[in-house]
Amino acid sequence: MSITNFRSADAQAGAQTVTPKVTFQTLQEKKQAGRPIAALTAYDYATARLVDEAGVDLILVGDSLAMVVMGYDSTLPVTMDEMLHHTRAVRRAVKHAIVVADMPYGSYHVSVAEGVANAARFVKEAGAEAVKIEGGAARCELVQRLTEAEIPVVCHLGLTPQAVHRMGGYKVQGKTLAAAEELARDARMLEAAGASLIVLEGMPREVASIITSQLRIPTIGIGAGPDCDGQILVFHDLVNLSFSRPAKFVRQYGDAAALFRNAIEGYVHDVEERSFPDDAESYHVSREVIDALKAPEAGETLRAPSKAHLVRKA
Ligand code: KIV
Repeated sequence: MSITNFRSADAQAGAQTVTPKVTFQTLQEKKQAGRPIAALTAYDYATARLVDEAGVDLILVGDSLAMVVMGYDSTLPVTMDEMLHHTRAVRRAVKHAIVVADMPYGSYHVSVAEGVANAARFVKEAGAEAVKIEGGAARCELVQRLTEAEIPVVCHLGLTPQAVHRMGGYKVQGKTLAAAEELARDARMLEAAGASLIVLEGMPREVASIITSQLRIPTIGIGAGPDCDGQILVFHDLVNLSFSRPAKFVRQYGDAAALFRNAIEGYVHDVEERSFPDDAESYHVSREVIDALKAPEAGETLRAPSKAHLVRKA
């Protein structure tokens, strides 16, 4: 950030929140009223601020940051410390949406106690309002313990990227009767255990629709069709910053890659042509200062400060 253009505390304080704070009760009311929930991921201050100001209800600091921000080829390597770091940045930007932190692989798989302790770090150290965990019935005890610890839980069923090796790749789940029944049963069990919301990823539209109609809590779909109570996408997919062929369920609403590339190439061109910065983009001093600076004694002063000056400084 330019030193002459930093955000002032006053500007921040003056920024009015025009939309009321979203809570899980708001999302529940939206489900009941049949009003869709808009969710999106964000990983840093600038994008979280744009996402929040656009009126998104829920912002997930997804472990997808391992792929879209850090360049890994799966979500598995991202650590607790990295997730905490990004959650803090998002938290500072968001005034309106619910901020959910994604628990990274390994942070809740060893024991329930460790899962609760790590989830509490997201709330206490990073300002998250809820955590998200992947998996079905096997997570019920953790969901219950988190709920008892006053931490709202978002569950994640279907194509769960942390299970990429078990699934044998990123494949649509719930395509057989048995698999679809298991997903529906898992969803009901997670709701009974206390989940506040369930993300349904990568499953047939029909299965997601039935699960949604069987639950009191809202569902948020990604690659699960239009009948969920809401939708979520990865921010970088939405604006073409993922550097990969978009999945079938992604709709791109902008081309940030083209926008950024164009801006960066323009900057490089102007620097190379010496047309940036121009005179209007430069700071100036008065004629007197310039003349004095050019005088030989001024040069001397710059090269060797007088003893008197050194004494004054000391
Ligand atoms: O990490 C993530 O971005 C997610 C969403 C795809 C739901 O889990």
